[in-house]
Amino acid sequence: MLIDKYGRKITYLRVSVTERCNFNCTYCSSTDPTESVNEVSLEDYLRIIKVLSHLGINRIRLTGGEPFLRTDFVEFISEIKKLNIDVAITTNASLLSESIITKLDKLNIKRFNVSLDTLNKNRFYEITKTRLLNRVIENIKILSSYDINLKLNCVIMKSINSDEVEEFIEFASKHNAIIRFIELMPIGPHYNKQLFLPLTEIIDKLIKKKKLKEITPDYGYFDNLGPGRYFIYNLNKIIGFITPLSNPFCNNCNRLRITSKLTLRSCLGYNYEIDLKNVSSDDEIKLKIFEALQTKPQKYSFDTTIKDCMRSIGG
Ligand code: GTP
Ligand code: 5AD
Ligand code: SF4
Repeated sequence: MLIDKYGRKITYLRVSVTERCNFNCTYCSSTDPTESVNEVSLEDYLRIIKVLSHLGINRIRLTGGEPFLRTDFVEFISEIKKLNIDVAITTNASLLSESIITKLDKLNIKRFNVSLDTLNKNRFYEITKTRLLNRVIENIKILSSYDINLKLNCVIMKSINSDEVEEFIEFASKHNAIIRFIELMPIGPHYNKQLFLPLTEIIDKLIKKKKLKEITPDYGYFDNLGPGRYFIYNLNKIIGFITPLSNPFCNNCNRLRITSKLTLRSCLGYNYEIDLKNVSSDDEIKLKIFEALQTKPQKYSFDTTIKDCMRSIGG
């Protein structure tokens, strides 16, 4: 079992399988998805994941960039599943199809998080620079027809989409999904401070209006494994908030990250990474993992913007 110097048990890994993305979101900004970048091979990722699984990592979330841009992505998932690790995926859902979803279902992939920041066509174009909203919604409908745990991730930006909260709650509920509103984090060169809105403002307003109540473990739905805080909205809908800045959750952090550049990061909000390229043996990989544990900070340092992009770090 991996335990860091603050006593936190590390059992969860996030892997960015590519920094490419077919969207170009305002706060993230992508490279040209057709441009060839030197992507890390599956073998190189798997070698590290195998060592981590022997050290107690039992959950992996695959993300990017957009992971489905990798043509070998489904093969990658099936290789990780052989290690008896629970696999979850974060995607923008634009490249999914019924046949891919069926294949993933056969591999027993039961947890999908879909990034969607607006339900409005024009805004979707403004935010992502694509016109793929309908396709994303179609794929959300297909996902929701399977027996899977589906979450929608909506990054709230001041004066851009903060008026869509209640519409999103209805949309998610209609599609058997849990909506999570995410606070904009100062990550990468495209961060715009003007757009930051502390989500505690929205939470407090809804609590005042008696529309929101924090969930307790006896409710039957309790997820304390990730960064989300969950509430009951209007007595019957579960919704989540991810509030790293206004209400940090670092005390319960259980994660490490492998980036799309094959580096190990112990914290999303910390400008420090350990190179895993050219490692010669499993023992050397282990030493690097222990170094990451030693240097994992107690809390992020978002007072300085994180230099690398979210799509390379993997969220
Ligand atoms: P589950 O809780 O397993 O559903 O996954 P998740 O919420 O960790 O994953 P997802 O990829 O959906 O990420 C949702 C948001 O949480 C993204 O904006 C991530 O950047 C953010 N996030 C995930 N892990 C951390 C973390 O350790 N620290 C901070 N500050 N944000 C995180
Ligand atoms: N702040 C908060 N969330 C972000 N995401 C990407 N960049 C940021 C940011 N700067 C979200 C995406 C996706 C998830 C993996 O991270 O919208 O849902
Ligand atoms: Fe792509 Fe996600 Fe970045 Fe949007 S936020 S450009 S979907 S990686």
